[in-house]
Amino acid sequence: MKLLVVGGGGREHAIIKKLKENPQVTEIFACPGNGGMAEDATLVPIGAKEIEKIVTFAKEQCIDYAVVAPDDPLVLGAVDALNEVGIPCFGPKANAAIIEGSKVFSKNLMKKYHIPTAEYEVFEDCEKALAYLEIAPIPTVIKADGLALGKGVIIAETREDAKAAVRSMMEDQVFGASGNRVVIEEFLTGPEVSVLSFTDGETVVPMISSMDHKRALDNDQGLNTGGMGTIAPNPYYTSAIAKQCMDEIFLPTVKAMKAEGRTFKGCLYFGLMLTPKGPKVIEYNCRFGDPETQVVLPLLESDLLTVMMATTNGTLAETEVKFRDAHACCVVMASKGYPGKYETGYELTISTDSVFVAGAKLEDGILKTAGGRVLGVTAVADNLKAAVDAAYEKVKDVHFDNAFYRHDIGKRALMAGKEE
Ligand code: AMP
Ligand code: GLY
Repeated sequence: MKLLVVGGGGREHAIIKKLKENPQVTEIFACPGNGGMAEDATLVPIGAKEIEKIVTFAKEQCIDYAVVAPDDPLVLGAVDALNEVGIPCFGPKANAAIIEGSKVFSKNLMKKYHIPTAEYEVFEDCEKALAYLEIAPIPTVIKADGLALGKGVIIAETREDAKAAVRSMMEDQVFGASGNRVVIEEFLTGPEVSVLSFTDGETVVPMISSMDHKRALDNDQGLNTGGMGTIAPNPYYTSAIAKQCMDEIFLPTVKAMKAEGRTFKGCLYFGLMLTPKGPKVIEYNCRFGDPETQVVLPLLESDLLTVMMATTNGTLAETEVKFRDAHACCVVMASKGYPGKYETGYELTISTDSVFVAGAKLEDGILKTAGGRVLGVTAVADNLKAAVDAAYEKVKDVHFDNAFYRHDIGKRALMAGKEE
């Protein structure tokens, strides 16, 4: 079978490595992929958002199955376009990807179907938003409606900060049209859990839970990033909470999407907060998380391609999805300065396995850094402490100038249940 994976980061590298385990897979193309995955996939110089070019390429190559991994092409309709020329695809169509593409859509969906989430108001008028902020409880959370490269959420500790955030989104349009509407929502507290799930639109099968570490520096200091490391499973996510989430959040969401005529197939990502009043949805993503995928897929025992195709064919209920009874830790290595300004072009040497490369290019056969987040190093072990230690051991086998990474990935999870 010939496969095509759309996207080019560490998440896509983890997906590609897992897909390769199926002996029926003969070739995997990546649009565009990156130089660090050249041994695992054939790189195609077409960007993930160049949907027409992707479709033409997929037709020419007679691709048997495609996986669209990032949010933008999903929201832009890559799955619809590939389906139109007869290529089956993993991922939601555009009318379902809106669950991530519009925060106003997802908040209204949750309200209509009584799915627990933070209280909120929607504003299309800047003055009205500013007036509301005079009375809103503080801290408050301001969210741009549309996709904003993961930067569209601002937690404001003061009224002045909240107003500045609204002005920057609605007046200065720092996120372009994504900020034409904003959601202002209740600030929630509690441990965060990422639960990725497979769904065929009827059945939903949660994957092993995970915990992201979003801030750039140790002890959750510094700026928000795309994610500096992950562990799985998440110790705060007990089996009782998992059952509650299935009954109150996962199944109701999948049913709600179907009832709205927006059947969701693919990976539905639930960003949850375990608040004192129970689990609530912080965000939905219409795709695998990055770097959650880098710890979740190494623990998947079942064949990924089989499970993915079951979501497309509507046969997930009859398909086994099994995870190993083990733990994983992924440490992201970035270039100094990330998520601000950073240099690229440093020579990169990797002498260990389970490295998922996010930002690298091949220049005359030499691998060089080409992004802020350069790669993630994953280790799997019988317990969390051993997985964390093994991941940090492996980090020593990766070298590039000005590398930086957090030293405390997994620390909070190791403390779970021991607080106070
Ligand atoms: P997002 O970009 O939607 O993943 O949000 C980024 C981060 O902002 C989340 O991981 C949470 O830590 C935080 N966040 C989002 N919404 C809320 C909320 N209502 N209350 C508290 N924290 C939030
Ligand atoms: N790691 C968070 C995300 O993929 O959105």
